[in-house]
Amino acid sequence: MTRKALASLAALTLTAAASFAAEHIGGRLPPGPPFDYHSYANVDQFRVTHLELNLRVDFWRKTIAGVAALELKRVDPRATQIVLDTKDLMILEVTQKATDVVGATSKNETFWVSRPFHLEKADPILGRALVIELPSSRSTTEIIKIAYETLPDSQALQWLTAKQTARHKEFLYTQSEPIGTRTWIPLQDTPQVRATYKAKIHTERGMRAVMSAENDPAAKQTGDYTFVMPQPIPSYLMALAVGDIEFLATGPRTGVYAEKSILKAAAKEFADTESMIEANEKMFGPYRWSRYDILVMPPSFPQGGMENPRLTFITPTVVVGDKSLVSVTAHELAHSWAGNLVGNATWRDVWLNEGFSDYMESRITGAVYGEERASMEALLGLKSLRADLAKLKPSDQILAIDLRDRDPGEVFSDVPYEKGRLFLNYLDTKFGRERFDAFLRGYFDHFAFKSITTEDFLEYLQENLLDRFPGLVTGDQVHAWVFEPGLPADAVLPVTSMFQPVDAVRDAWLNGKPLAKHVGLDWVAQQWLYFLGQMPASLRTAQLAELDKNFGFSKSPNAEIAHSWFKLAIANEYQPAYGRLEEYLTSIGRRKLIAPLYEALMKSPPGVLVAKRVFAKARAGYHPETAKAIEAIVEPKGEVGE
Ligand code: BES
Ligand code: ZN
Repeated sequence: MTRKALASLAALTLTAAASFAAEHIGGRLPPGPPFDYHSYANVDQFRVTHLELNLRVDFWRKTIAGVAALELKRVDPRATQIVLDTKDLMILEVTQKATDVVGATSKNETFWVSRPFHLEKADPILGRALVIELPSSRSTTEIIKIAYETLPDSQALQWLTAKQTARHKEFLYTQSEPIGTRTWIPLQDTPQVRATYKAKIHTERGMRAVMSAENDPAAKQTGDYTFVMPQPIPSYLMALAVGDIEFLATGPRTGVYAEKSILKAAAKEFADTESMIEANEKMFGPYRWSRYDILVMPPSFPQGGMENPRLTFITPTVVVGDKSLVSVTAHELAHSWAGNLVGNATWRDVWLNEGFSDYMESRITGAVYGEERASMEALLGLKSLRADLAKLKPSDQILAIDLRDRDPGEVFSDVPYEKGRLFLNYLDTKFGRERFDAFLRGYFDHFAFKSITTEDFLEYLQENLLDRFPGLVTGDQVHAWVFEPGLPADAVLPVTSMFQPVDAVRDAWLNGKPLAKHVGLDWVAQQWLYFLGQMPASLRTAQLAELDKNFGFSKSPNAEIAHSWFKLAIANEYQPAYGRLEEYLTSIGRRKLIAPLYEALMKSPPGVLVAKRVFAKARAGYHPETAKAIEAIVEPKGEVGE
């Protein structure tokens, strides 16, 4: 059967499962592994259980080259072909470990036998299937070695030149989620397969390599490093960074890796990480990954944070000096339970990672920084969700989203995050905190180190919450949350009194009352974000000048506040802010912060000119995926030249 036919068959059964789920929320998918539209891997025949990498990171050539050894479990005894995911990889050789072959002098001698392989036609999103022929065998495990090399513009990698980093040394990092791992390792790039790994990384002396694995903070910067990840993780959590990185401990099992210029500030900003872990452990069970370190990324890092196990990657834009944006770390830490421990089987199920982590982020923030801050952040999240819902077509408003023929990296919206969070809030309120926390602890235990589908979760929810405490929430209500667009009418929404004084100041000012000297002196970052976020779209130049003069928004050290301000400035073509705006867009690459600003600029003819000029200047500093996304905004398809 062709892949297309298989895909439509799986689509049919998925629809059938969804309508079955309408009557009974514990809907079941057809037997066998869930179909992942974003991987070519034949997981019903072989499954990778362990990975060993021996790679050289070459800054001069901008390549990673070496060998990946894959330990495979033969699930189907008749299988004679393994299909792996690759994208923009040069495959040099494939060999298989063979014992007892003709010519062996002793029984235990190991031979590596060359195996035929070919690459299928490239798909622009998925890349190329690597098909390897293996002789039929009764053995249930096989080991293959693939010698390969990445290309300089591999999607998951950003190679920063010395000029682009704080220390004027080169830097390399990976951003694998969702389907980027195949651009630097040939493997089964689907989250439903979990494998342990070991790695040897060789690079220049004086550079330190770190990975989503056991890192040795005391390792000498010799250029040769070894890593072990003893827990099975999905492929999107494979991560590597190499740079002039130093380490500072913040607690017995926590610390910060960063370039020297930001190391101390970062350690101060993230000083509460141990308290966050303890808060989470108290609510949701043990932290099972031994250490939790944070790597502060170069400013071009496209995400706020990435939950690479044992070593979260974090944007430097959250190092503000007042801990006001550290809920990003709370969110990434929460993934150590939601996602990394129990995670999505396919990208349709990503809300199981993101919605749960957002919910847990609120709980951690509440425990460490107080309920007021948590509720303000939840309310800002809700505002952002509502704005997204207003733009998204109904089928993209459901939690279990259909991603067929789409790039899962481009479809991310607030829905899996904020709607997911509200769904868990709803269950929390309906069943009561004690029961709900016990349920979540049980869930993380039950599925520990497994990847699950939405349906697996719903079945577990039915048995362990709905049926155990009947009469509180119906299957239909849960179904509406997961499979229907919009927000259910009985959603439990966050409330806070912290925004009342902010509304009062804004309303009075909009009605002509001048800003008093003391206004905002006691406001926290979330109140400023709300102050700016709820401004009317259209303001007069004099009003914007008054705001900037009083509050210094253009110069704000807080990248989120600056972002909100620039949005307002652009919408009103407030030129005096454009100098700082240009600096902002050329110095950071976090997508959530820069893409909306380019979009806003593109709405007016003078803005278009600014967007194009600034992008031309900034582009080389952005991560390749970010550059692609911004290019799509600034040079929309169909536009031919100028
Ligand atoms: N897992 C995501 C990062 C991600 C999302 C990578 C989609 C690739 C595709 C991470 O946990 C995340 O959600 N980061 C957020 C910050 C968070 C506080 C909501 C981000 O990067 O903005
Ligand atoms: Zn997340």
